[in-house]
Amino acid sequence: MASAFSMNSFLGQRILALVRDGDYAHAGEEEAIELAMADVAKDAGRLILDAGCGRGGTAEYLRRHGWGRVTGFDIQAESIAAARQRYPECRFLVCDVADADRAVDEAPDVICLFNAYYCFPDQAGALRALARAARAARAARPGTRLILFDHVDRGGYQDSPLLDAGEPFLRNPPLLAAMPERLAAAGWRTAGTRELHDRYIGWYRTLVGKIERSRGRIIEIAGPEGYGHVLALYQGLVDAAVAGRLGAAIVTAERVG
Ligand SMILES: C[S@@+](CC[C@H](N)C(=O)[O-])C[C@H]1O[C@@H](n2cnc3c(N)ncnc32)[C@H](O)[C@@H]1O
Repeated sequence: MASAFSMNSFLGQRILALVRDGDYAHAGEEEAIELAMADVAKDAGRLILDAGCGRGGTAEYLRRHGWGRVTGFDIQAESIAAARQRYPECRFLVCDVADADRAVDEAPDVICLFNAYYCFPDQAGALRALARAARAARAARPGTRLILFDHVDRGGYQDSPLLDAGEPFLRNPPLLAAMPERLAAAGWRTAGTRELHDRYIGWYRTLVGKIERSRGRIIEIAGPEGYGHVLALYQGLVDAAVAGRLGAAIVTAERVG
């Protein structure tokens, strides 16, 4: 089988589901959620909006651990169908982040993004739409908090990005230093930045280990070249992180005005 499948394809997602634990498609899985939410008091009445929620594992984790009621949305209808089926106690919507304000009918107290922002084609537009979602919905509340966990370009990553079937593997990891200005332009005031680069290296080393241990099963569905492709991509993330070009961060911000 040819190796030129994208990790975003059905086959790519199937392979990732084999090696990852739970319905998470972000680095660090539950550890990353705990880190991102560490300063958010648990309150079952709070509304959390999980933007780019994928298959809903993060939304369910937040709900189950008492952080609040959770609405997740994602542009991929198949992911939302899977999330609705598996996690009926959360609410899930098919929605482009650019339309986030039109999809929500209640202002969220917290908006979180777990490895979703880097995928958005129009990141500035996404931040503006999320600010509108916090502002325009019924019973708008001041001080909606944005929690953005993502891959970050620490400098130089985008000059020679990893390629997946001819396309950038990470579509557009943000430049960390540019985030406060980017957020401010969209109506958010940066409250804090936590860099997690060493953990990022550890998380992807662990994932590479899982890929290696799943070698036989990956070869069964994608062939030896497919296995080599997957391994090279994730090892490439580790190498870029070790070289100081790539990493992860949690950026928190509050809505202004
Ligand atoms: C790497 S996955 C992360 C999924 C989830 N947050 C998690 O941690 O498991 C990125 C998600 O962003 C979604 N996405 C990409 N572009 C989007 C957009 N314009 N609007 C909404 N979701 C989008 C993708 O469909 C995908 O589910």
